[in-house]
Amino acid sequence: MERTLILLKPDCIERRLMGAIVSRFEQKGMNVIALKMLRVTPELSKQHYAEHVTKPFYPALESFITGAPVVAMVLEGLEVIRVVREMLGATSGLKAAAGTIRGDYSCSRQMNLVHASDGAEASAREIPLYFKPHEICEYTPTLRPWFQASDE
Ligand code: CMP
Repeated sequence: MERTLILLKPDCIERRLMGAIVSRFEQKGMNVIALKMLRVTPELSKQHYAEHVTKPFYPALESFITGAPVVAMVLEGLEVIRVVREMLGATSGLKAAAGTIRGDYSCSRQMNLVHASDGAEASAREIPLYFKPHEICEYTPTLRPWFQASDE
């Protein structure tokens, strides 16, 4: 089982798309094991987007991500990091394929609705930025046998 950090970004909250997007992860069979609404501070933004802080688009990204609440989640599942990235589609909603979350709901490079960790290293670094260990509620869903065979 893998874990990944998801952020429903301010555009997702403001556009009332939280439910639609959480539904897609649930319908796919992923486990939501942590969830909270919060305001990203400029300090947290710089930690989260450390690799982008020196890029020309960073000031606009920081003002966007701190401009309204976000919802942070941890999703758990088999190969969940790759599967979620594929569900999101390309970074820009203008380039994301139809049928992906960004392809269906976003027409922007910055306002692309959802962040997801891009690898195991990123998820191990990002999850503790948003959740303390006791805030993660691991459980075994009773429906698991109807989502995957026992040897998968
Ligand atoms: P995310 O997957 O959260 O990772 C970094 C974020 O920066 C990205 O989604 C976009 O919201 C934003 N971003 C990436 N590239 C650009 C860009 N060229 N111009 C503006 N924003 C960008």
